Parts: sequence; C-alpha cells; structure tokens
Amino acid sequence: MSTSLRIEDRGSHLLATLDRPEKRNAIDQELVDALHALCARLEVERRTLVLAGSGGDFAAGADIAQLRERRAPDALAGINTRCFQRIRALPMPVIAVLEGYALGGGAELAYAADIRIGTPTLQIGNPETGLGIIAAAGATWRLPQIVGDAVASEMLLTGRLLSAGEALTAGLVSAVLEPEAALARATEIAERIAKLDPAATQATKRTLLAPASAHPAIELQEQAVLFESDEKQRRMTAFLERRSRSTGAATEGKARR
Ligand code: COA
Repeated sequence: MSTSLRIEDRGSHLLATLDRPEKRNAIDQELVDALHALCARLEVERRTLVLAGSGGDFAAGADIAQLRERRAPDALAGINTRCFQRIRALPMPVIAVLEGYALGGGAELAYAADIRIGTPTLQIGNPETGLGIIAAAGATWRLPQIVGDAVASEMLLTGRLLSAGEALTAGLVSAVLEPEAALARATEIAERIAKLDPAATQATKRTLLAPASAHPAIELQEQAVLFESDEKQRRMTAFLERRSRSTGAATEGKARR
C-alpha cells in the first residue's frame, strides 16, 4: 500500500488524497503506481472518486527529480499520460478539489477529472516549457476542451498560472469555496450522483468522452440498452405512481371541499 496516496471509503465515494506535502504532493512513480492501483479498484467497484491534496496544495507537478532523469523511451511510454487517461476513463465520475498549487502534471491530473472545485488559494497552470519540456499528459488536448483554445493557448504558451478567480471565469473550476466547504461540496455532489442510476451515469460519461465522430450513434446505442433495463422501468413506474397518487389525493381533497 502506498503511503503517498491516502484512500478513504466515504460510502457514496472514495476520497483519495495525494499525501506528499513535504514535496507539495509532486507526482512521483510511487504515486503513479498508487493511482493505477486505485483505478484498478474503481474499474471493478464503479464508484465516484474525489481527488484532493494534503498540506494546502493539490500537486505541484510531476516529480522534477525523477523527470530530470527520464529519457526518450520514458517520454514515449507516457508514464503520467497513461495514468491520467485511465483516471479520465474511470466508469463513474471523478471530482477534483483543488487547493493551492495545481501545476504541470498536477494540473493535468485535475484536467482529467469530470468536475473541478477550486479554493481561494488555487494557482493552476502549466509551467513545463520553463523546464524545457511540454505538458504532455493531456493539457494540450484536454485543456482547450475545458477552457477553449484562446485561454488554453495563453496558459500553455506562456506558463502563466491562473488564480482561483480566473479559473472560475475560464470555467476551469465550477466553484471556489474555502477548503472544508469545497470538500463538503464534492461530497454533496458524490451523494447526489449515488442516488442516480449508475448504469445511466456510466453511459452518460461514456458518451461525453466519445470522439465527435461517434455521435449520435453512441448515445442511441447506450439509450437502447437503458430502454430495456429493469431499473429504467422501476424508476419511471415509481415516478408515474407517485404522480397518480398525489393527483388522486388532490382530486379527493377538492371533492371533499
Ligand atoms: N517536483 C519535485 N519536488 C518538488 C516539486 C516538483 N514538481 N514541487 C515542489 N517540490 C519540492 C521542493 O523541491 C521542495 O523540496 P525540498 O524542501 O526538499 O527542497 C518542497 O517541494 C517545497 O517546495 P518549495 O519550492 O520550497 O516551496 P515554495 O512554496 O517556495 O514553492 C512551488 C512552491 C510549487 C512554487 C515550487 O516548489 C515550484 O515551482 N515547484 C515546481 C513547479 C513546476 O514547475 N511544476 C511542473 C513540473 S512538470
């Protein structure tokens, strides 16, 4: 078990906290391995994941001490890229709570989440070119999808970090809350998701992640499966019976008056 990734079962979700505060939660090979192990678990358990960082930061990037030693074959192996793609592809939603620094690979891990919540100290961006490399773990294609080409190009070409307010304006985070409230918001979201049909949630995530060329065929196929599900029948029948009960009660009430 990794000591740098703390995993807590919160019922509606797993809370995974990057826990290397003395290194600003920099993502080293041990953390990458722990994130893969977490993905393996969530690919089977199929639950919402909340990602956070300890010590006031999300993650200040890939571990530069390890990055400096990596050579061309390591780049081609896509050590962080494959890990973050696996997180992106998790069957259930991923929510990132972003405090303090979310830089480089830390920012890219955040871009792999479905929902991001910021805190007032957030500074997020990709300073990679200042270190002589590119942001190759998802930022060049994922960031433009989130914030649009103009903001993504400015961030990636200048290395400028966005403040919490700027990230909110850019749509990179959906809210900015004090740390405890941000974690509470993530929990509320996970609890809300837990009440929905997991098969429909997973189908929605798959269609959201599908390439443009897959639409509209993919949503029709997903819907065809759901239209045959017992859960759809149960949920829709429950809705209609609730309505007819309340309409019946209202009619009876009127008749008595
Ligand atoms: N990789 C490895 N170690 C890192 C790290 C990273 N990405 N980010 C921070 N650390 C380490 C520092 O080396 C330092 O370790 P030490 O105490 O053993 O020297 C420790 O974390 C604290 O960082 P420090 O720089 O002293 O804190 P700070 O508050 O002055 O600055 C940052 C914080 C995040 C601004 C600064 O650490 C930084 O610029 N980090 C690199 C960010 C980056 O370029 N990320 C992209 C990598 S792809």
